[in-house]
Amino acid sequence: MTTLSVRVAEVEQVTDVIKHFTLVSESGEPLPYFSGGSHIVVSLDIDGRTHRNAYSLMGTTANADSYHISVRKQENSRGGSVYMHDQVKPGSLLEVTYPTNLFAINKMARRHVLVAGGIGITPFMSQISDLNRLGYDYELHYSYRSSEHAAFREQLEEMCGDKVFFHVDSENSQLNLKDLLSQQLLGTHVYVCGPEPMVKTLHLLAGELGWPENHVHSEQFSAPPVGDEFKVKLTESDLEVVVPGDMSLLEAIEGAGVDAPFLCRGGACGRCELDVVECDGQLQHNDHYLSDAEKLAGNKIMPCVSRARCSQLSLKI
Ligand code: FES
Repeated sequence: MTTLSVRVAEVEQVTDVIKHFTLVSESGEPLPYFSGGSHIVVSLDIDGRTHRNAYSLMGTTANADSYHISVRKQENSRGGSVYMHDQVKPGSLLEVTYPTNLFAINKMARRHVLVAGGIGITPFMSQISDLNRLGYDYELHYSYRSSEHAAFREQLEEMCGDKVFFHVDSENSQLNLKDLLSQQLLGTHVYVCGPEPMVKTLHLLAGELGWPENHVHSEQFSAPPVGDEFKVKLTESDLEVVVPGDMSLLEAIEGAGVDAPFLCRGGACGRCELDVVECDGQLQHNDHYLSDAEKLAGNKIMPCVSRARCSQLSLKI
């Protein structure tokens, strides 16, 4: 995959656990333009292994001078976010993919309702840039735990004016999703990004209230969970690879020199789907892409987030 070389121009501590990184082109050439809701994948070499993590692009979409991403530090994960927080400084060089958009606004919508929870605010920062530029009708609902977790609040007030509503758990002003969805005009599209229960609840309520499925959009990138070590046979490459407990299946395949497809690396887009030839144990599906029936059938796997509890897995790649 073709990548871009960028230099970290600035690092800002936004909250205790969130840092904001400004990235500029290493060559000085303008960066490719992107649309609201796009993400990039950042490659990090940590202890001889390549970690690749997807981050939403924030900031104004009409600016090709810099990219902006924010990273929440996840202490109990595989180390990418901790590395970004502790090791990546102004002047650091990074490889990133070209922007890809899996969470674009629908330009046919009559109205746009954006629902963010916690760090899920990040893709909306660039979507709002698009919505403002195009003059579209929208409102943003941003939920967070307490004032210390209110990342980007001032910036949002400036960008959205009276179109932004803050819902703070500690102040008992939680968002009532059912009321919000019930009050919308026909032709409205709703977009949600945040913790899994929030995304699931919104989809469920929208279904119960009769919202057309294609009017409900979500972005839910999962981090690859850790698990047990297992072996995988790559039938077309004629390779056998060990997947350590703290490495994703996709990273292990890439580490063996196989060029595997991906876009989101978070179990959302389906781009990395591989055919399962054989599994002598149980597949552990962690994606949001395959249907329940497909997961049960066990013929496909999303290696960016899913793994297996088995002694031998064979995949067609
Ligand atoms: S890369 Fe998107 S589901 Fe795996």
